Amino acid sequence: MEKITLTKPDDWHLHLRGGDAMKSVVGMSALQMGRGVIMPNLSPPIVSVSQAIAYHSEIMSALSPASVFNPLMVLYLTDSTTKKEVIAASNAQEVHAVKLYPAGATTNSESGVTNLLNTYPVLEQMQKEDLPLLIHGEVTDNDIDIFDREKVFIDRTLSRLVKDFPGLRMVLEHITTKDAVDFINDSHNNIAATITPHHLLANRNDMLVGGIKPHFYCLPVLKRRTPHQDSLIRAATSGSSKFFLGTDSAPHEKHQKESACGCAGVFSAHAAIELYAEAFDRVGKIEMLEGFASFFGPDFYHLPRNEEKITLEKSKWRVPDSYNFSGSHVTPFFSGKELSWSLLV
Ligand code: DOR
Ligand code: ZN
Repeated sequence: MEKITLTKPDDWHLHLRGGDAMKSVVGMSALQMGRGVIMPNLSPPIVSVSQAIAYHSEIMSALSPASVFNPLMVLYLTDSTTKKEVIAASNAQEVHAVKLYPAGATTNSESGVTNLLNTYPVLEQMQKEDLPLLIHGEVTDNDIDIFDREKVFIDRTLSRLVKDFPGLRMVLEHITTKDAVDFINDSHNNIAATITPHHLLANRNDMLVGGIKPHFYCLPVLKRRTPHQDSLIRAATSGSSKFFLGTDSAPHEKHQKESACGCAGVFSAHAAIELYAEAFDRVGKIEMLEGFASFFGPDFYHLPRNEEKITLEKSKWRVPDSYNFSGSHVTPFFSGKELSWSLLV
């Protein structure tokens, strides 16, 4: 039986939610990942260091005593975030980044930034403190087609941000287009990107052909296979340290997605590393998985690489149709389908 051993990976973009919802999913990430960068788009959002520390404690107390999972907390940037909060964040060992959601771009982004210029003093301070900015890179203008929103964000906003803050470390999260891959490849090393398993393994046909499949609906929305999905696969498997693992695993109750107005989010924490292994193996690049999953993220965040190892075995298993989610159900990515790699635990 074919096996591969990897340095334990980390998830550099993870939604855990709060309360019972968090308790039902956190163990899945903790089983696979050394660390998780925990997204702050709760309701209410995590806008202060004290909220981030309280959320960190809530996650820690939900973990089993044997777990070594380390949640890395993130502050939610608003028009009224202060420089003082940024200084406190960079002094708090629990907090590792600040997240920019353009207001209205996605789930719980109502408190997000309405005009980036309002945040310039704060971004200046982050640059000084060397605190990374994580970016949901989509414009929200009604007249911009949803499939173009990432590209337009890059053209209008990100290019400007990179010029105005040349020393700020930035991660363009969950990239979905060839335009994003090209932009990252052409940028300095302080700009990186995360890539999700669903954007590597699926495209908009999976969501829309033969009926609408709400469990494939996420933001930024899945794009065309050529050139976008193909370009993401090439970037992830290229060995470039600018691209690393971030699942954007975003659990929602099944009925919230299977609705006349279904919410955005793909849940992938149940099989994150196996899904990435599937994507890399399909193009014959399994040997490139370790850099993407376990090295380039910690290097970018200036954190040590994990010392533990995990082993994946090439043996097929069927992903369950659903998992328990806070007394209800969440439908996982690849539900009912076979994956070729199994994590040995
Ligand atoms: O699909 C998504 N779901 N994209 C996001 O940006 C947010 C996430 C969520 O929190 O559900
Ligand atoms: Zn996300």
